[in-house]
Amino acid sequence: MRRGLGTISATGWVALILAAAASLAAAAEPVPGGLGPLPAVRIPADNPMSAAKVELGRLLFWDTRLSGNASTSCASCHAPQTGWGEPEALSRGYPGTRHWRNAQTILNAAYYSRLFWDGAADSLEQQAQSAAEGAIAGNGEGAMMEMRLRLVPEYVTRFREVFGTEWPRIQHAWQAIAAFQRTLVSDAKKVPFDRWLAGDATALSASAQRGYALFVGKAGCVQCHGGPLLSDQAFHALGVPRHRQSDSNPLVQITARWQNLQRGVSEAQYKGSDDDFGLAYLTRNPADAGRFRTPSLRELRYTAPYMHNGVFATLGEVVEFFDQGGGEGPNKPPQLRPLGLSATEKQDLVAFLESLSMDQPLLLAPPRVPEAKPLADGGMNARPR
Ligand code: HEC
Ligand code: HEC
Repeated sequence: MRRGLGTISATGWVALILAAAASLAAAAEPVPGGLGPLPAVRIPADNPMSAAKVELGRLLFWDTRLSGNASTSCASCHAPQTGWGEPEALSRGYPGTRHWRNAQTILNAAYYSRLFWDGAADSLEQQAQSAAEGAIAGNGEGAMMEMRLRLVPEYVTRFREVFGTEWPRIQHAWQAIAAFQRTLVSDAKKVPFDRWLAGDATALSASAQRGYALFVGKAGCVQCHGGPLLSDQAFHALGVPRHRQSDSNPLVQITARWQNLQRGVSEAQYKGSDDDFGLAYLTRNPADAGRFRTPSLRELRYTAPYMHNGVFATLGEVVEFFDQGGGEGPNKPPQLRPLGLSATEKQDLVAFLESLSMDQPLLLAPPRVPEAKPLADGGMNARPR
């Protein structure tokens, strides 16, 4: 029999109200570490969202003209089918170079207050510019890239619509790309752990539930991986081992030395080691050497390999690393200690970590990027500003 509202008896209503009250009480009970679904993305006042801006950002994200020799777009290193990051441990670089770090996923990047593994950028807008201009990513020159956009009639129209300027401006391109990235977030309805917290008891396997208990209990992961993002957004030195390419690939070594030079480390440090100093590049404090931003643990199923240098290929390897109390190195935090996990417990932790990813990866097909056209009158009457 179909039960419409009309068929519920008085006692039925009381039962429903009691059940609702009980589930409210359950919801009010704090979840350890403040885990829970992601809130709405915070939108900066100086870059409001609009559908047209996001669409423009999507085109630009795939546009190789936003790089030095028009070979490399954001999507070259942040492709949807590889978790919006790079599948190689150390990311590919601008042609002829190799990056020295792993390319992070840009999924949920909108939630970080500081971007990059060492926190070097503090907004998506600023980050997009440094990615397109940086010598080992886009290697593009701002004014040149701006001029390229101005010769694309469809961009001229779109930038005018979105930003109200006569001609595209490169700063607006970074704003549009940032707006696009703010739409690339996990959807709680598609994340098993979020559904489970919301009351769907079938959403997590028994193993993942045991893994959750370990995560917030014995294994102590939640001390650094708390909150909806599962990141304290702080910087810690775990002693992650060097990637072997740091000792075997000349291109990686060139980048490491160049980075150290760029970032002005002392000569003694520079000669003594080509280690990645992490947060210390910003703070100049030796106590920050080797510290990297705690990454979110969402969408890990799609974003291997792991750590700032991609040294671990699987979540099993990561859990093994934490079980041993982390690696060797300076500034290790007191939270890291051998955990004594059994083989089953390690599997359970991995099952829990996997439950923090959406059922399916977030995929988007590459858009058709609009073509450049010569200015009809050689540009004499079309004065770019
Ligand atoms: C040649 C490869 C490459 C290209 C091209 C590239 N990136 Fe990246 N991206 C990386 C790497 C590697 C990192 C990590 C760098 C670091 O932490 O120092 C990164 C980090 C990021 C982050 C930080 C995520 C976080 O969690 O902090 C964002 C956002 C991002 N890129 C967006 C972009 C955008 C937008 C573009 C295009 C304008 C772009 N990237 C172009 C390789 C690339
Ligand atoms: C002291 C703080 C701290 C604790 C405790 C901690 N983590 Fe982390 N975690 C980090 C930091 C920082 C990184 C990045 C380190 C790096 O790349 O050098 C990281 C990286 C990771 C990564 C890689 C994610 C990626 O995208 O590359 C996973 C997975 C992870 N942690 C899971 C765990 C688990 C499981 C536990 C508990 C057994 C745990 N963490 C305990 C701080 C911590």
